[in-house]
Amino acid sequence: MSDAAPTPGPHDEPGQPDRTIDVEAVLAGLTLEEKASLTSGADFWHTKPVERLGVPSVMVTDGPHGLRKEAQQADHLGIGASVPATCFPTAAALGSSWDVDLVRRVGEALGRETRANDVAVLLGPGVNIKRTPLCGRNFEYVSEDPVLAGEVGAALVAGIQSQGVGTSLKHYAANNQETDRMRVSADVDERTLREVYLPAFERVVTRAQPWTVMCAYNKVNGTYASEHHWLLTEVLRDEWGFEGLVVSDWGAVHDRVPALAAGLDLQMPASGPRPDEAVVAAVREGRLPERVLDDAARRVLRLVARAQPVGGGTVDVDAHHALAREAAAAGSVLLRNEPVDGSPVLPLAGTDGLLVVGEFARTPRYQGAGSSQVNPTRLDDALTALRALGDVAFEPGFTIEGGPEGDDEALRAAAVEAARTAGTVVLFLGLPGPDESEGYDRPRLGLPENQVALLEAVAAVNPRVAVVLANGSAVSMPWRGLVAAVLETWLGGQAGGSAVADLLLGRVAPAGRLTETIPHRLEDTPAFGNFPGEAGHVRYGEGVLVGYRWYDTRGIDVAYPFGHGLTYTTFGYGDVVAAASGTGPDVSVDVRVTVTNTGAVAGAEVVQLYVRDPQASVLRPVRELKAFTKVHLEPGEQREVAFTLDARDLSYWHPGLRRWVVEGGEFVVEVGASSRDVRAAAAVEVEGEPLWAPLDGMSTIAEWLEHPAGRDVVGPMLEADGRELDDSMRAMMMQMPVRVLIDFGIAPVDEDELAALAARANAAVR
Ligand code: BGC
Repeated sequence: MSDAAPTPGPHDEPGQPDRTIDVEAVLAGLTLEEKASLTSGADFWHTKPVERLGVPSVMVTDGPHGLRKEAQQADHLGIGASVPATCFPTAAALGSSWDVDLVRRVGEALGRETRANDVAVLLGPGVNIKRTPLCGRNFEYVSEDPVLAGEVGAALVAGIQSQGVGTSLKHYAANNQETDRMRVSADVDERTLREVYLPAFERVVTRAQPWTVMCAYNKVNGTYASEHHWLLTEVLRDEWGFEGLVVSDWGAVHDRVPALAAGLDLQMPASGPRPDEAVVAAVREGRLPERVLDDAARRVLRLVARAQPVGGGTVDVDAHHALAREAAAAGSVLLRNEPVDGSPVLPLAGTDGLLVVGEFARTPRYQGAGSSQVNPTRLDDALTALRALGDVAFEPGFTIEGGPEGDDEALRAAAVEAARTAGTVVLFLGLPGPDESEGYDRPRLGLPENQVALLEAVAAVNPRVAVVLANGSAVSMPWRGLVAAVLETWLGGQAGGSAVADLLLGRVAPAGRLTETIPHRLEDTPAFGNFPGEAGHVRYGEGVLVGYRWYDTRGIDVAYPFGHGLTYTTFGYGDVVAAASGTGPDVSVDVRVTVTNTGAVAGAEVVQLYVRDPQASVLRPVRELKAFTKVHLEPGEQREVAFTLDARDLSYWHPGLRRWVVEGGEFVVEVGASSRDVRAAAAVEVEGEPLWAPLDGMSTIAEWLEHPAGRDVVGPMLEADGRELDDSMRAMMMQMPVRVLIDFGIAPVDEDELAALAARANAAVR
């Protein structure tokens, strides 16, 4: 790719396809062998062509935060060289912007690069939930919260696909760790899947229809995702209305026949002739209905057809670099900014007296390792960006793997010496590259010891220390009270270095907010004790209490809460006005609040709307994010922000009824600047839907009494017994299945009569 270089060829006119494919006509003309062959790749990155019918092959490449198109046929884990492409901020950074308009623009740029490189599908975004900060791939994922992950994912997909190329929403589903990712069974109850692990996928599918969804490597409740009919067909297609193609993660299909039957369409990469032959044999022997193979082949053909014409358009490398810089700044989170001698340390007044410490300032960490690794078009570092503004002293302070060699103690001593006389010290710390990768999980929650030792020593001689962090997921910060400021930049892509300079100097106001909680200790984290599992299983024992849902519900102190982030101004919130209308599945709640920039400079606030359900009959997280919006306000400017919540926003997944339910009663709508900084709240009374499960003999007395047609059956039975029940006896009885009264020989009915009564009661309320 070169600056503004048009890709030559017949593809430059969007909407002028040079090749149209009549999918049904092609399908009708395919042999069984050809259909089977279409359901696997030609090589690592291409679909198979059917030359005699004019069906070309198309190319797919990683993803997600930049194009990784390998120059030659090679491996898939980034070892081979790939063509230069803009390395945008990783999902961890991009998501922290909470800015769906910006994310969409980044998506458009990614789409342009994909198309200009003749690639049909970019393999991303990833919207798996950050269940533990130790997941090696968290930098590729958006958040611990499914609403946020879904909104950001949908904006990316819409942006990329607006350029006439496809996306691959991954890794579906419950791929929340890298340890044993190719075999482990994620053992998750349905309510937890529905409320935490699936909704981000659901939101992206229903709002943005990604061209493809990539199934995960792992098993879900004992079945490989690639063979999971419930996931791939019942939920994804039948419930959510997914219209695209399901592709496997690379190497995630071990037996294509059951995979096709479950709803997988395309096995990647190429894996030799045997799986194709097995599919042909299964159809011939009647073990796989031919229409199932037809459906898969049709979806592959449709993908190829919709990608035509492949290629075209131009890439303005400078403009994309500038966008990467804007996005990196927008996704950086100012966690702390305490005054020293009366004024906050950031923004810096200038570069006079500035000392930069830390190898990461000149050897930036800007992306993670594995299949997402981009070969950037250029690479900014913060030291060069700051030195462009004036004389800035530098001390590396410590060594990092892959950086220049040195002696940590000597480097530390030199940095401390320089810090004694510096006006302000900006200290660049972060996780070493090998800590964060696809394929294995992180070895630690905290920063390496050599960096913490440096921080302590520098902070001991200078009160004006601002730490700039580079890491792909939360690190513990027991040291944060020792320094005046902490700016978390995540892995900010190729322009992260200049974006940091923009933020430090106040040319751009920090605008990011945490998409994940920063805990104190690993022992406090939700999956601790269950992660990474054992003997091939990882039990999601924390259930729906993931991320802030866990910390807030259990009242666990954290370093920085979900949603937190400062900027160079402050915001005030007015009262929340909330009004409910409708009932049950038609309920909606209108919410309004006014936000004011109460400081002296412009800035952006992320207004977060949380819902609490204090009267639920199941365990619900103390609060859950349901909506958010980012507002840019000039000093003194006010804006009214409005949200509308629907029934789903108030619902929980009823494990017995196996559907979403709105339980009536009081709900509290909270608006705030983080999950622990609720600024205003309002209660609304919601008319829910009647909730009862069908009765049978094993339904308890309480369940019969709650059931509108059951209470008339069991009520008289209890009275007929004639005994006065004291409170504890009554409480005990309530939990007893009615059938047990028969087993005790004290029921006035027999088993058959009870079954008939249950059937009648069920029929009466249907
Ligand atoms: C990763 C996917 C990636 C694929 C192709 C797999 O190992 O899990 O995210 O898209 O390889 O490189």
